[in-house]
Amino acid sequence: MVISYPNTYFVDNGFRMIATKSASKLATNPGGGSDATIISVRSATLQDLGQVIAIDTDATGIEKVDYWYELFHRYGSRTLKQRFFLVAADGSEIVGFIIGEVRDWEFGSPPCGWVFGLSVKPSARLGGVATLMLETICAGFARSGVKKVRTLLSRDNGLVMSFFRSQGMVAAPVIALERDL
Ligand SMILES: CC(C)(COP(=O)(O)OP(=O)(O)OC[C@H]1O[C@@H](n2cnc3c(N)ncnc32)[C@H](O)[C@@H]1OP(=O)(O)O)[C@@H](O)C(=O)NCCC(=O)NCCS
Repeated sequence: MVISYPNTYFVDNGFRMIATKSASKLATNPGGGSDATIISVRSATLQDLGQVIAIDTDATGIEKVDYWYELFHRYGSRTLKQRFFLVAADGSEIVGFIIGEVRDWEFGSPPCGWVFGLSVKPSARLGGVATLMLETICAGFARSGVKKVRTLLSRDNGLVMSFFRSQGMVAAPVIALERDL
């Protein structure tokens, strides 16, 4: 099955989405053109992990190798169909990742999709890569039967807030609480 959005194609062969939307913005040729970049979003593999760790280290300033291998073990193998660890690839180069899962009845809410990791390589930003990854993971959530997607982000992270707001996400009817231990 192929679902067509303007300039975007979802290919229903295990999570894969190929976009030409990014092409005009990401192309090395500023005018777009026939050698425009094609970004595909697919499930992460073990071979991708080094590049994913590098993107995360660049974004957060903290290298967490053990964390990423553990996360890949839990989400990358997709032993549960409700877990998603996706990457955006430009050929062999990984330019972004997104991680999320469907959580059932947590926080007293009906099952919904949660996005808890998202990052795009600085050189690939503002080309629609994060939009493409969010669309792909949301398609996966919808296929799992849920009707809503949520995320949590730091209140002072204006960049990530701008991105999610641009995707139509608004304040949820829940608040996060914490205390020192
Ligand atoms: C937030 C982030 C994922 C966006 O990725 P991206 O691929 O550049 O996003 P897109 O190109 O799909 O942008 C979609 C929309 O988001 C908004 N947006 C994205 N970057 C923006 C910026 N720098 N300033 C303002 N709005 C922005 C815009 O509305 C944009 O739409 P437009 O291009 O039509 O204006 C990326 O900037 C990033 O990885 N930032 C660091 C994330 C991070 O800190 N991760 C660690 C904690 S999880």
